[in-house]
Amino acid sequence: MPSDGFHDRATSQAEKAARVREMFDAIAPRYDLFNDVLSAGIHRRWRADAVDLLHPEPGALYLDLCAGTLDLARLVRARAPGARVVGADFSLPMLAEGRSKLAASKIPVWPVCADALRLPFPAGEFRGLIIGFGLRNLADYDAGLREMARVLEPGGRLVVLEFTVPPGRVFRGLYHAYFHHVLPRVGAWISGQAPAARYLPDSVSRFPRASELAELMAAAGFARVRYRYLTRGIAALHVGYKD
Ligand SMILES: C[S@@+](CC[C@H](N)C(=O)[O-])C[C@H]1O[C@@H](n2cnc3c(N)ncnc32)[C@H](O)[C@@H]1O
Repeated sequence: MPSDGFHDRATSQAEKAARVREMFDAIAPRYDLFNDVLSAGIHRRWRADAVDLLHPEPGALYLDLCAGTLDLARLVRARAPGARVVGADFSLPMLAEGRSKLAASKIPVWPVCADALRLPFPAGEFRGLIIGFGLRNLADYDAGLREMARVLEPGGRLVVLEFTVPPGRVFRGLYHAYFHHVLPRVGAWISGQAPAARYLPDSVSRFPRASELAELMAAAGFARVRYRYLTRGIAALHVGYKD
């Protein structure tokens, strides 16, 4: 609570960001295991699809934003040897986990500790930007998308991989049972972090639906925005180009 007793938008956003960062700092050593077990490995297929959509080219510079343990950054570099890839995240423990994996695989990626809402890069720096399961965590989705547009070169490509709520009614029932009842319990057991396991389904419920996200991207300065659902709409892949 601010000392004068008033809440303002900037303060509540800063509080949200601090809570999110602390949560990822705490979960970092178990994050990869959490993903593998709770998605039964499906997230690997989704990541490969996301990198396909980015079409990385050798020699060009790419940003993996909210990069966490650097899986997408690593895949981008593996897909286009010679591409230069920066992985930015505000959780140092998540980046440190990623760095250990990179050291083992010898894939060069530059980790940078940075806030997605205030990126330390000049305008027009990157040919492409990929953000996986990250946008949902930002305190301000619009500001995040505008910052992504800023650091992309004209015509540069943005790929967003994010959870969404399945559009079909029957499957949505099954999804709801798993996501809101099974996942928080199993997730808490794996990670030892019950709040983090509850945060995932809650943050997905609050996040815009796939069609709404497409509109947000267009409003933030992206052209030719398209999206498709993955695994019956548990996740979605969006792509757009900086105008
Ligand atoms: C669910 S993880 C996703 C990690 C990775 N992209 C992946 O595909 O597994 C979300 C990541 O976003 C990061 N994050 C959340 N808000 C951020 C912000 N404002 N600036 C930078 N990183 C942020 C967290 O620290 C966390 O590592």
